[in-house]
Amino acid sequence: MTKFDIDSVAIIGAGPGGLATLYEFLHTNQDGISTVGKVRATHPVFRKIVAFEQKDKAGGIWATSGNEVDLPIPPQNLLDTGSYTSPDIIHPSQSIPENLNQASVHQPFATDIDRSTSELEWKRSGVFPKMFTNIPSRFTRFSYLPNEEKYLDKSRIIYPFLTHKELSQRLVDFTEDEKLSQYVRVNSRVESLTKTNGKWVVTVRHTNIEKNKDEWYQEEFDAVVIANGHYTVPNIPHLPGLAKFNETHPGVLIHSKSYRSSKFFEGKKLLVVGGSISSVNLLQFVVPAAKETFISKRSPHLVFPWINKALESEGITTKPTIEKFIPETNEVLFTDGTREKDFDAILLATGYHFHYPFLNNYLNVIEPSNLSRVSGLYYNTFAIKDPTLATVGVAVSTINFHTIEASAAAIAGVWSNAKFLPPKNEQIKWEQVQIDSTANNLLFHYYTHDKVKEDFIDKLYVYAPDERYNPMEIDAQFLNDIDEGFAALENLFYKLKDGVLEITD
Ligand SMILES: Cc1cc2nc3c(=O)[nH]c(=O)nc-3n(C[C@H](O)[C@H](O)[C@H](O)COP(=O)(O)OP(=O)(O)OC[C@H]3O[C@@H](n4cnc5c(N)ncnc54)[C@H](O)[C@@H]3O)c2cc1C
Ligand SMILES: NC(=O)c1ccc[n+]([C@@H]2O[C@H](COP(=O)([O-])OP(=O)(O)OC[C@H]3O[C@@H](n4cnc5c(N)ncnc54)[C@H](OP(=O)(O)O)[C@@H]3O)[C@@H](O)[C@H]2O)c1
Repeated sequence: MTKFDIDSVAIIGAGPGGLATLYEFLHTNQDGISTVGKVRATHPVFRKIVAFEQKDKAGGIWATSGNEVDLPIPPQNLLDTGSYTSPDIIHPSQSIPENLNQASVHQPFATDIDRSTSELEWKRSGVFPKMFTNIPSRFTRFSYLPNEEKYLDKSRIIYPFLTHKELSQRLVDFTEDEKLSQYVRVNSRVESLTKTNGKWVVTVRHTNIEKNKDEWYQEEFDAVVIANGHYTVPNIPHLPGLAKFNETHPGVLIHSKSYRSSKFFEGKKLLVVGGSISSVNLLQFVVPAAKETFISKRSPHLVFPWINKALESEGITTKPTIEKFIPETNEVLFTDGTREKDFDAILLATGYHFHYPFLNNYLNVIEPSNLSRVSGLYYNTFAIKDPTLATVGVAVSTINFHTIEASAAAIAGVWSNAKFLPPKNEQIKWEQVQIDSTANNLLFHYYTHDKVKEDFIDKLYVYAPDERYNPMEIDAQFLNDIDEGFAALENLFYKLKDGVLEITD
């Protein structure tokens, strides 16, 4: 049984995952007793907690970027490598100045801002002005936050969902009400994490906007939580001819993360690539605007059958996967031998990568793509190699605010010594059994909403601090809301796509 002596904790990322972790830690006492849902811990378990956030505000993807976008597609020189499907190529780790051991947060080492690499940070949000959540309001909150009365109004056009502004506001209110900002260092990107003499050394690059300088320093912590999200680095699948096509027809290829408005697609011949949530989400807005809309999809959506029907509905021409791009004739050849020419826009709704460029291989991502797996985690949360490293937000489910909460609670329970992890060999065995019963890919992390409580949240609850209630205790009775949500989402899709309904920003 490992007893921890953790005094200081770093959290990488201040999105929903980082904020929930902060809240949980601030509500855990040294004796391992939780005060979640009530006042803060009177004798908090950790003396020092710092959340590092690379953006200028907390909130993760819900701290939106307005009309500012990341690059629509990685730069041509990276496409030309042919290895653009690797996140290491399009989201590289930064070179770190030498001799940072003298630098500290109060006396950092200043360098000029390297504009050439900042575009490869992919830190802008993919949330666009008309986006609304695809999960009902009750499940886009942590269980200790209210599901505000106003969102129960069934006459709301997007009931039971929230506009992205409403969800952003929820997180702003949470941060303010719980006074979390004082623990968050914004404009502070973690560039490297190493372990030296039993301490985690976090290398931080703080962008000082006023001085127009990057300020580097290192700081030691006893434990680290990685909460960097996995919907920021675009997955650009390897498709023959793509690089040359982009060179010959610049401005046609755009990843879904850079979508902001259907206006851009007005009167255009459009191809959407991908058959998942981003595709239906964007199609409902672009079909009424575009001159013609095609979709290229690889496999049926396994979780939401309505998506498969929607992608073959009126106004959309369905194609199989792309065999190759033919830049010379401005054509796309599909695997069924058909070809289409002169697309004005090709929207790659091909998902995102898990990626940890700062992590120096403490965790590995297997076969990078939209379907990759993070290896070496017990219950998607504790690094098996070193239990003073943990993650939140790796599990994938339709109730990810609650799964985030479950991971945060388990970390607080274990690091406060209220509960103990099983021996390493049992953790390794758990990972293998999970691979055998799911797959060695993203399915490993995926929990359907009818199983997520018993297979994930209840299993992690075993490690929660004493007197901590189960994150599903309040909301399990409402899991049917999720099914109601799918039906509402399908209904909204057809109304928006067929121009029966319009929503404002
Ligand atoms: C388009 C889109 C729509 C979605 N819609 C829904 C929805 O309707 N409902 C739902 O429940 N979920 C939805 N999701 C899932 C969404 O990811 C979660 O709602 C939630 O944002 C996950 O929180 P997180 O903190 O794990 O990740 P994020 O929100 O991605 O936050 C991670 C944070 O870490 C920061 N960070 C990353 N790397 C570093 C670094 N090296 N140093 C410092 N900071 C760093 C990032 O800047 C970011 O602020 C959606 C995702 C996408 C992409
Ligand atoms: N609130 C909202 O309304 C909203 C909107 C958008 C996104 N989101 C969230 O964002 C997350 C990501 O969703 P996403 O749809 O962007 O990603 P995703 O679910 O990973 O889907 C990516 C799609 O691209 C396809 N693809 C990948 N490589 C391909 C290739 N080489 N050729 C053809 N197709 C290829 C995949 O096919 P396979 O299925 O065969 O892999 C899949 O259909 C989800 O959690 C979702 O809930 C929410």
